[in-house]
Amino acid sequence: MSFRMLLVGLGNRGRMWAEIAGHVAGVELSGAVDVNPAARASFAAGHAGVPCFAGLGEALAATASDAVLLVTPPDGHLAQARQIFAAGLPLLAEKPLTLDLAEAVQIVDLAAQARLPLMVGLNFRYLPVSQKIRELVATEAFGAAGFGQFTYQRNRDGRQPRLNKYPLTMRHPMMLEQSIHHLDLIRFCYGREVESVLCRTWNPPWSMYAHDSNVSCLLRLAGGLEVNYLGTWTGGWNELRFEWRTDCAEGVIVQRELFADLAVAHTADKALSPVELAPCEPFYDDSAALLADFVAHVRGDAPLACSGADHLVTLALCFAAIESSESGRAVQMAEFCARHDIAYPP
Ligand SMILES: NC(=O)c1ccc[n+]([C@@H]2O[C@H](COP(=O)([O-])OP(=O)(O)OC[C@H]3O[C@@H](n4cnc5c(N)ncnc54)[C@H](O)[C@@H]3O)[C@@H](O)[C@H]2O)c1
Repeated sequence: MSFRMLLVGLGNRGRMWAEIAGHVAGVELSGAVDVNPAARASFAAGHAGVPCFAGLGEALAATASDAVLLVTPPDGHLAQARQIFAAGLPLLAEKPLTLDLAEAVQIVDLAAQARLPLMVGLNFRYLPVSQKIRELVATEAFGAAGFGQFTYQRNRDGRQPRLNKYPLTMRHPMMLEQSIHHLDLIRFCYGREVESVLCRTWNPPWSMYAHDSNVSCLLRLAGGLEVNYLGTWTGGWNELRFEWRTDCAEGVIVQRELFADLAVAHTADKALSPVELAPCEPFYDDSAALLADFVAHVRGDAPLACSGADHLVTLALCFAAIESSESGRAVQMAEFCARHDIAYPP
């Protein structure tokens, strides 16, 4: 029997999700929702047979759905999650779960009270390169990981038609829209929690963003693993540069491109050797794997991956980093999470 998903939000990412859902075995769309008539019209033109609605309440009442895929801007997620859980449906929500930590805690509590699964769309965990780094670190293939350097530099034109517009005006667009993925990958691939964060966020004078588009963090993880993170949307060069290097006791693990290109070396090697990775179309194949995991969980066949409770710790890390930037002091994650009623570790 097919798994019927109600897709809410038909913007850039929502349209992508419609395509992804079409490639996951057994998944079909029970309906699609967007408040914007133009978004509904353009979606309907490509998806005959999927009923479109202007409001979530109307769609929940009119469709028979097994779960909801929520791809709206994060500031509306709490009200939407309340409606979805009240209708008794599991939820797969895009990141960030909210732009307000207390609201995210409320959503996770609502899911727990309703005993309904809540997954957050951390699809980059499913990239073959991320899975391989996690495996190499966990197995200590190059000895114990000791320190890492994660650099993401680009000049992102947030006015492009294909991009969502709220990052141009929101607070902390880099941290809450982009670095959130990177900090989540650092937790996931290293397989341990961040214990403390010292951070600076700022906005270069030429930035088109109303608020901070640069993030720099020193992270201390369990076991003494230290990570130096830099992310920018306002680099001085319009060429994306990405490198994530992990130094271990007996070698290095280096991701040389966003989403791909992993290489390794033992300490005495003269050159890096590429690591073979399964082919993957970023944003699509990784998201399809995440969705397949969600469906398997709802059907009782798999544990819940990328849970809301787990996401709370990544979101808490973003807000702890913001607090550190404002106070000029390192923030201890155990204390920060206790102060915000967040289970740490999740
Ligand atoms: N995980 C990833 O790789 C990834 C990639 C891109 C975007 N995202 C996330 O997806 C989310 C959406 O991003 P986007 O680029 O599609 O944004 P967008 O602005 O292009 O689209 C959002 C859509 O939601 C609609 N909407 C707003 N309020 C609504 C409501 N109450 N009910 C129904 N529809 C409503 C808007 O009309 C719009 O069509 C963001 O949280 C973003 O961070 C994740």
